[in-house]
Amino acid sequence: MNNIATLRHPHSPRSPSAATAMLDRVVSSRRAAPHATDSDAVASSPGSASEDDESKTKRQHISLLASNYLSRIGHGSSCLIVCIVGFFVVVSLVFHYSRSLVCISPYDPLSRIGPGLYRPDAIESDFGYLGVPWCRSKHGKMVEWTSKDLINGLEEFVPIYETRPIKNNMYGMGFDHSFGLWFIARWLKPDLMIESGAFKGHSTWVLRQAMPDKPIISLSPRHPAKYLQKGPAYVDENCTYFAGKDFVDFGSIDWGTVMKKHGITNLSRVLIFFDDHQNELKRLKQALKAGFRHLVFEDNYDTGTGDHYSLRQICDQSYIRGGGHSCFRDSDEARIRARRKKFWEKAVDIDELCGPDETWWGVRGEMRDNFNHSNKPISYVEHFQNSRFVESILDIYWELPPVAGPSLTHQTRYDPGRAPSPIVEDGRFGLFQRLGLGRLETSVFNGYTQMVYLQISEQES
Ligand SMILES: C[S@@+](CC[C@H](N)C(=O)[O-])C[C@H]1O[C@@H](n2cnc3c(N)ncnc32)[C@H](O)[C@@H]1O
Repeated sequence: MNNIATLRHPHSPRSPSAATAMLDRVVSSRRAAPHATDSDAVASSPGSASEDDESKTKRQHISLLASNYLSRIGHGSSCLIVCIVGFFVVVSLVFHYSRSLVCISPYDPLSRIGPGLYRPDAIESDFGYLGVPWCRSKHGKMVEWTSKDLINGLEEFVPIYETRPIKNNMYGMGFDHSFGLWFIARWLKPDLMIESGAFKGHSTWVLRQAMPDKPIISLSPRHPAKYLQKGPAYVDENCTYFAGKDFVDFGSIDWGTVMKKHGITNLSRVLIFFDDHQNELKRLKQALKAGFRHLVFEDNYDTGTGDHYSLRQICDQSYIRGGGHSCFRDSDEARIRARRKKFWEKAVDIDELCGPDETWWGVRGEMRDNFNHSNKPISYVEHFQNSRFVESILDIYWELPPVAGPSLTHQTRYDPGRAPSPIVEDGRFGLFQRLGLGRLETSVFNGYTQMVYLQISEQES
């Protein structure tokens, strides 16, 4: 629960074996059966009907045997057997319900993935029983949109995406994040959009598709127009560029003056998009100081990966379900990570995860910044305090789910066990095709890195 005493990290006074035992307990506790079924998944599973029938047959068979046996033995013995069976039922029920008492925060996956997208069986899958970390918000507020809204959005966005001016956006956003940014911008309908990190201008174009008439401010050391000399790029007519020789870093701009110039009086009507590979804690503090409340981070890297400290990394904590790690080589986690690494290019095994002295947080205990041109080792305590700070100012943390499962998109990079359930789940080939996703080149599905939308709570002035 939300209790510092339940934290476990390599520098805690607890002995390594005790820590390992606790980890294994926590891990085992996360293996429980789902509490509900995904009717959709069951309906689309070809084997589901026959499995169901077989289990019923087995149950009938066992009860028949039991009643035959009881009728053969005496009344006294049957009482004893009933007592023993009753005892085991009570013990297993206690074990089942005690899972929620073990060092796990009140987990509300709905706040991460939005109403309608909750799949209790998602944490069941293989590596997935370790879960996916997320950032707790102060009051557990959720986004307004549902999975149906996302599916409708996809249907609308695919034809728009097909008209993009930059067809090959290597090093920039692929399909999943382009959709996420477009969807969020269109839903929030901001009066002004700010982007930090433009590259050739693909994300500027995405913002423009979402809000055709609203002003954009774009910050990038190299002006997107520069790329036009070599190939496709996008320069927007209603965009103020702090780029090229006019470049100013987001943290050095006098936002009060700039907003006044654009006639913006309510900063809650502004959406900021960060794709500049800077420490996200630094960016969050800068945005907070300026008074902005709606932020999207493109590269929300998982622990052990990436070139900057991300929200996902900050919130990877033992007291959050799916968070906190062990560098113990014989643990379940090490074994599962090694296996996942064979299938998913970006999966992280225990050797990549852990730095010296069993430092697993951030990237091997480092807080990276500025495309990893700067990196600073941080203590576990500092890392923990960072997440508490984030929690203290957060209303919403919402990770964009991958648009479709890997059997549909054929992506092989990110590990789906460390991502929320996709919008179009594996097996739903008909829906994938109907939305037009099958028309896109498979390479556009490779860039997913858990894009996140943050809503910062209103600050008292
Ligand atoms: C990954 S690219 C952005 C991709 C782009 N958003 C897209 O979707 O195509 C990162 C960009 O950040 C720019 N960048 C580097 N440092 C920056 C900073 N301090 N502020 C803003 N942008 C920065 C880089 O020059 C590069 O253009």
